[in-house]
Amino acid sequence: MDYLEIEGGYRLNGEVTISGAKNAALPIIAATILSDKAVVLKNLPNVVDIRTLLKLLAMLGAKVEHSDTEAKIDCSSITSTKAVYEIVAQMRASILVLGPLLGRFKHCEVSLPGGCAIGQRPIDLHIKAVEALGAEVSLEHGYVVAKAKNGLKGNKIIFDKITVGGTENAVMAAAMAEGVTEIVNAAKEPEVVQLCEMLDMGGAKIEGIGSSRLKIHGTNGKPLEFKEPIEIIPDRIEAGTYLCVGAITKSEITLKNVNTEHIQTSIEKLESMGCSFNIKKDEITIFPAKELESVNIVTAEYPGFPTDMQAQFMAVATLANKESLIEERLFENRFMHVSELNRLGADIWLKGNVAAVRPVKELIGAEVMATDLRASSALVIAALAAKGVTKIRRIYHLDRGYDRLEEKLSKIGAKVVRKKS
Ligand code: UD1
Repeated sequence: MDYLEIEGGYRLNGEVTISGAKNAALPIIAATILSDKAVVLKNLPNVVDIRTLLKLLAMLGAKVEHSDTEAKIDCSSITSTKAVYEIVAQMRASILVLGPLLGRFKHCEVSLPGGCAIGQRPIDLHIKAVEALGAEVSLEHGYVVAKAKNGLKGNKIIFDKITVGGTENAVMAAAMAEGVTEIVNAAKEPEVVQLCEMLDMGGAKIEGIGSSRLKIHGTNGKPLEFKEPIEIIPDRIEAGTYLCVGAITKSEITLKNVNTEHIQTSIEKLESMGCSFNIKKDEITIFPAKELESVNIVTAEYPGFPTDMQAQFMAVATLANKESLIEERLFENRFMHVSELNRLGADIWLKGNVAAVRPVKELIGAEVMATDLRASSALVIAALAAKGVTKIRRIYHLDRGYDRLEEKLSKIGAKVVRKKS
């Protein structure tokens, strides 16, 4: 199995080009199911999760041409509407095919995603949303079986809890429904916004894009038409991760191809820790703090502080001058990086969903294990600042979401190599 060997303690310098956002690309790939014409996607990140979803679409019968950052997807040839366990078990986000398959074909079967390292992550809200649009849903042999014999009908969907994937599935299901669907308490993440803009341009008119109240005018069974290539927005989590790399290694790093509006909370937190920035339109340079100040973080839905940046900030906070408090409000088990960071010499204490990060003078290289995608990047960040060599095992988690990580880090001077054990 591959592992990363990182020799830490070096100052880095240079430019990193940020890739397209995995979490924007996934629902957009799923949304291509709503069209019976070929759709071209650009600026895709070259990561495993994208290849997994493209494989699922190909298994359904779509014609998929994929090269590095581009894909041409033609869903006119779909013959199956069953998303099998083999794929869904690899990637939970496969559940995103539920809404579009049901919307276009009036029935589908999607394997239940099962457990997940960062918590229970149920899909009850996805199911409630399609039921509100008239689908009959049953659970059979580990599959969600959804049927809407006469097609979906617009209705009001009120989410009890803000859910990114649930909102995405709801808008995709509503896109080809008859009549108008209103979604209350919708997620406002930039990835949801890009999906809505795509559907809107494809013929399902959407009001309130970017707000928590969306109104979707369904096409009444008419497939959507995406005429222009769709350029995936920059990955705000990848960008935030490289800013954390700069902060902890005390390095000046410039990020290219970023949307700085999407990373406002990360910028503000790093400013409060003593870092400064030069911000241009789609470029940002971080100037490190002389001494890292402590930070207090509470994760929240967008535009709040993203849960997907919690682990990386925890890594940076280990070397701050005072104790930091980090509260995780979205996922109940998203602290698995704590014990691994402590193996690198950090001093982090957990009480419920709050981590107290006590300052240490230095981190020291050790063997550690990646547990989930963002937890893995926290270990990389810590390893880059740690004295000596760190070996990070189970890096398939990183490969799911970080495009060419070693290449990008090596380019700015980091000593990172991928090895096989
Ligand atoms: C997406 C992101 C993930 C990010 C998360 C929160 C993708 C592919 N993944 O995940 O990186 O960490 O948003 O920003 O975009 N919930 C329920 N019932 C449901 C659905 C969700 O209770 O049916 C709960 C979840 O357990 C969690 C909260 O709602 O506590 C938010 O989850 P959600 O926004 O749905 O996350 P994902 O879409 O899975």
